[in-house]
Amino acid sequence: MKNSPSWLDGAVFYEIYPQSFMDSNGDGIGDFNGIISKLDYIKDLGCNAIWMNPCFESPFGDAGYDVSDYYTAAPRYGTNEDLKRLFSEVHKRGMHILLDLVPGHTSVEHRWFKESMKPERNEFTDRYVWTDSIWEEPSGMASLRGISDRDGSCAVNFFSHQPALNYGFYKPERPWQQPMDAAGPIATREELKNIMRFWLSLGCDGFRVDMAGSLVKHDENGRGTISLWKNIREFLDEEFPEAAMVSEWGEPDKSLEGGFHMDFLLHFGPSHYNDLFRCEKPFFGGKGDVSEFVKKYIETYKSAGEKGLICIPSGNHDMDRLSRSIKGDRLKLAFAFLLSMPGAPFIYYGDEIGLRYVENHVSVEGGYGRTGSRSPMQWDNTANAGFSSAAPEKLYIRQDPAKDRPTVENQLRDGNSLLNEVKRLISIRKSSPALSNRGKIEFLHAEKNEYPLAYLRTAGDEKILVVINPSDNPAKFECGLKPREAVYTFGGEITSSEGYITALGISAGFYRV
Ligand code: NOJ
Repeated sequence: MKNSPSWLDGAVFYEIYPQSFMDSNGDGIGDFNGIISKLDYIKDLGCNAIWMNPCFESPFGDAGYDVSDYYTAAPRYGTNEDLKRLFSEVHKRGMHILLDLVPGHTSVEHRWFKESMKPERNEFTDRYVWTDSIWEEPSGMASLRGISDRDGSCAVNFFSHQPALNYGFYKPERPWQQPMDAAGPIATREELKNIMRFWLSLGCDGFRVDMAGSLVKHDENGRGTISLWKNIREFLDEEFPEAAMVSEWGEPDKSLEGGFHMDFLLHFGPSHYNDLFRCEKPFFGGKGDVSEFVKKYIETYKSAGEKGLICIPSGNHDMDRLSRSIKGDRLKLAFAFLLSMPGAPFIYYGDEIGLRYVENHVSVEGGYGRTGSRSPMQWDNTANAGFSSAAPEKLYIRQDPAKDRPTVENQLRDGNSLLNEVKRLISIRKSSPALSNRGKIEFLHAEKNEYPLAYLRTAGDEKILVVINPSDNPAKFECGLKPREAVYTFGGEITSSEGYITALGISAGFYRV
C-alpha cells in the first residue's frame, strides 16, 4: 500500500471502552481525564496504540454506536478540549490513538434524521435509505416505519433506532434505490470525509471503522463498498497520509483491497476465530480443533497478508470475555498465541488481568449479553476496585463481586501473574522482527483435533519456531528444525529427537532455529 504509517509495523493495541476504564470525577462512569491518568499503565504494559470506542454525543441506546452529533464529544466523557488533551498526552508518550467511526448509521435523534423525516424536500432527504411508500419495506433490511410525516420506511442497520445512512445501492432495482453516484449518496460520503477531517485535524491518528463492510446496500461480494472505501483512501492519501485505518469487516481480502491498513478477525464471518477461544470446545480450552481456523487463515493471508495486517483480538466489547471459557494457565497460552501471530495484536482492556465476564446482568445501554464483558476495570483493592469514588450502585455497570477478583495491583505484585506474562510476551514481540507485525508465518503443525499448534515466524535472517500446546498431555509432531535458543518458554521446554518435537502439556515456547 502506498501509505501505511510506519508505526503500525510495531503497533500493539489496547482497546478502551471509555465508560468502564477510569472515572476521574466520581460520577460512576469513565472519562477522558481518567484515561489520561492511566496512560502510563498502558505504556508500561507495552501497548503503544489505543482504540477507543465511540465517544461522541449520543442518547446511548447502543453504548455510543448511535451517534447524534459526530463533531462533539459526549459530555459525560469531557469536552472536545479534553479529548484533544488526551491526543496530546498519548503522543507525548510516543503512542497513537484511533477513534471509533460509525459511518453506517446514526441515532434517530441525530438532526440529519429529524430533517430527513420531514415530508418537504431538504438537504437531508436523501441522507438515509428511505423507500417512497410506508407500505414498501426495504427488502432484505429491517426498517423503521410510521414515526414520520414523510411517506416511506427507513432501513436500519442494527437496532431499530439506528437508521441506515445512504451510500447508495450497488445495482438499484426500485425507484427509491439510489445508485452510488447519485447526489444523496455522494453527499453522505463527503460528509463522512468532513468528520474524518475534523478529528484528524484535532490530532487523532486514525479510526476503527464500525461495520465497514456494510455501507453500500444490496452489494455484490463487497464490490460497491470496496470502491467507496477506495475513494476515501484517495482522500486520506492526499490529505492525511499518516492516518491509520482498521475495519470491523472480518474479511481482510476485501477490506485491505478497499484501502484499510488492517482488518479484524471477528466472532462472526468466515474466519473460524471462535474455534480458538469461544465455542463449545475451544482449541485453547485444551480439547478443540484449530485446523479450520488455520486453513482459513492461510487462505486470507495469501490473498491479503502482503497488503496489510490481519488483526486477531483477545476479545472486544461485543464478545464474551476471553476468561469466560479459557481458564488459568491456558490464558497465558492464549496470549502466547495472540502475541506471536502476524498482524497488529489488540488487547481488550482487562483481558491482560483475566477480568471476568460478570454474570446475571440486566442490559446496560443496549449491551444485552455483551454487558457482562463491559464491566469497569479493576485497578486496586480499594472501593470499586479503584475505578471510581462513586457509590457502588452508581457505577455504569456492576463490577465482579467475587472476593478474589483480579486487580492490576495484585497482579503487578505477583511475578507469576497473567499481567506479568502478557508484559513479558509483548516485550519479546517488540524485540524480535520475526515475531512482530510484518514477520512472515508458515504453519508447521495444525492438524484436525491434534495438538500442538506450531508455526515458524521469519524476518530476514531471524527464524522463530513457535510451539503451543494447550492440551493437558504432551503432544508431538514431525519437524526437521533444530531449536537452538529459547526466546520464551512457559510450562517447560520442548524436546527434539529423531525428527520429532514434543511439547509438554500446557506449555508454550518460542525458539530460534
Ligand atoms: C459493531 C459494534 O462493535 C457494536 O458494539 C455495535 O452495537 C454495532 N456495530 C452497531 O454499530
